[in-house]
Amino acid sequence: MKNNPQLIIATNNKGKVEEIQSLLQGLDIALLVPADLGLNIEVIENGTTYAENAMKKAQTLSQASGLTSLADDSGLEVDALNGKPGLQSNRFGPEPYTDTSRRAYLLHKLADSPRPWAARFRATVAIASPERAGITFEGVCPGEIIPDERGENGFGYDPIFQLDGTDHTMAELGLIEKNRFSHRGKAIRKAIPILIEIFGNNLIMDLVQESS
Ligand code: IMP
Repeated sequence: MKNNPQLIIATNNKGKVEEIQSLLQGLDIALLVPADLGLNIEVIENGTTYAENAMKKAQTLSQASGLTSLADDSGLEVDALNGKPGLQSNRFGPEPYTDTSRRAYLLHKLADSPRPWAARFRATVAIASPERAGITFEGVCPGEIIPDERGENGFGYDPIFQLDGTDHTMAELGLIEKNRFSHRGKAIRKAIPILIEIFGNNLIMDLVQESS
């Protein structure tokens, strides 16, 4: 019987996991999350760039699991706030942090700034393996923040982020459509050739073992 090679996704964010699973579903790889291996690791995101944080998460999970790992670090950059919340997007505003509290705090910070509130999502995806140097890929999705929430899908700032050139918020898009335009979708599509390169040998080994 064939055992698919395994890739661990280094996040506990359900929204991110769903998007990444959908983006990678064409590959012959079993996707795991930390909980599947009983791992509960808190990575301190104290890097000065998305790439640093993403690589730290990917390397930590790769070392803990012995598997190739894929991590994402992402954030929202708003021009009227000089690029904030940026790296702090997950820890923006008063605690306890929730998607609702972060959105409310962002709108409160923007209240005195003239519209449009130009913004972009940025994601860096890192891939780390026990036997290889890590590598990162970036994706950017331009848009603007709007004052009234629209849409039920997605997570985080999606209901107040309207995509450039459309009158849709991210939260009004379905999963496949969001992945087509999103920062994370763009970064992961760039990473797919490397995943195929990493897992290519394993896929060939599987075929050899099956036929022997
Ligand atoms: P981190 O990458 O875990 O540090 O978290 C990034 C934070 O940025 C998330 O908790 C969200 O608040 C926000 N964010 C990142 N990507 C998205 C997205 O696709 N939609 C909405 N919010 C996002």
